[in-house]
Amino acid sequence: MNRIKVVVTGAAGQIGYSLIPRLVDGHTFGDKIVDLTMVEIPQVVDKLEGLVMELEDSYFPNLGEVKYTSNFEEAAKDGDWFLLVGSIPRGIVYEGKKIEERSDLLKINGGIFVEQGQAIGEFGNPNAKILVVGNPANTNAMIGKNAAGVDTQTWLAMTMLDSSRAKSVLANKTGHNVSDIKNMIIWGNHSPTMYPDIENAMIDDKSISTMVNDMDWVENTFLPKVQQRGKAVIDARGASSATSAAKAALDTVIACENPTEGGNCFSAAIASDGSYDVPEGLMCGFPLICLNDGSIEIKRDLVLSEFARNKFNISIKELESEREAVKHLLK
Ligand code: NAD
Ligand code: LMR
Repeated sequence: MNRIKVVVTGAAGQIGYSLIPRLVDGHTFGDKIVDLTMVEIPQVVDKLEGLVMELEDSYFPNLGEVKYTSNFEEAAKDGDWFLLVGSIPRGIVYEGKKIEERSDLLKINGGIFVEQGQAIGEFGNPNAKILVVGNPANTNAMIGKNAAGVDTQTWLAMTMLDSSRAKSVLANKTGHNVSDIKNMIIWGNHSPTMYPDIENAMIDDKSISTMVNDMDWVENTFLPKVQQRGKAVIDARGASSATSAAKAALDTVIACENPTEGGNCFSAAIASDGSYDVPEGLMCGFPLICLNDGSIEIKRDLVLSEFARNKFNISIKELESEREAVKHLLK
């Protein structure tokens, strides 16, 4: 295939502005021509005319047809990739209330993904890949996948940003470059309960946990730093992370478009099939690999220590409680 149709929601938002140009820059999808459909809510959709102008003015030889709409069903038709960014972030005032808690996001954003999931199931490419970025990303993706009901479509929620954050902290600690770190797995939820796995993370086939050899640092510095980084960025910028989130979304797409090199894996949440004793159907952060045919699988041969298992279980419990909170949105 030398053309690919990519649909992006929340296109007029912060992440959208950093993400969209890089989808058509000839890097993310290689030499494919990218047909782009940008989606926004009716109140702001017309602003996307400006982004269309900028894309046209940016000299992108790989830019195909570019459209914008507030009609998601129309946008979804034959979509190969869906980047579902559109939703309300933490840190803003919404209907007079400052949104600080994930439970607020669950109430506001969950419903969006029923409609979008149905449309993707009905009109999207049967082999489409869908990356949910909008928070709470894991549970939104579970809602969307459930509404779509098409098993050949691959629904993912983004934990790549957490994995990149963890790599940055570990690169600093060990004096290596971020690219030296392999198997940086984020188990569980994209939330402060996530478990960034330092024991399975490797530099030159050596466990980074063994290299660091300081469980006190792991427990009291490394884990909280990665788990709370989203909030730290919100506190510092007054807005949630955008350019790093866009980069992580692009890195996830690249990881899903190219076979994973032997021995490595990448991080995203995918529906559990019972692997690692995670209840089936939960959209959980796992180590993933992309096979030669483009399908995405859970890497199943990793060992979790008792320390890791206890931390991971906390996040699984949180995912179960989120599923309980949105059960009215599941069919
Ligand atoms: P933003 O407020 O700048 O932009 C969101 C955009 O989505 C807005 O333009 C809004 O109009 C649009 N939108 C809302 N509902 C929509 C719908 N139904 N269809 C289409 N568009 C819709 O927010 P942002 O900073 O770009 O963040 C977007 C989301 O990404 C937030 O939920 C944020 O928490 C999340 N996020 C996730 C990660 C992650 O690692 N998973 C990282 C950063 C941010
Ligand atoms: C992040 O991790 O930066 C985002 O998910 C924003 C948030 O609410 O934490």
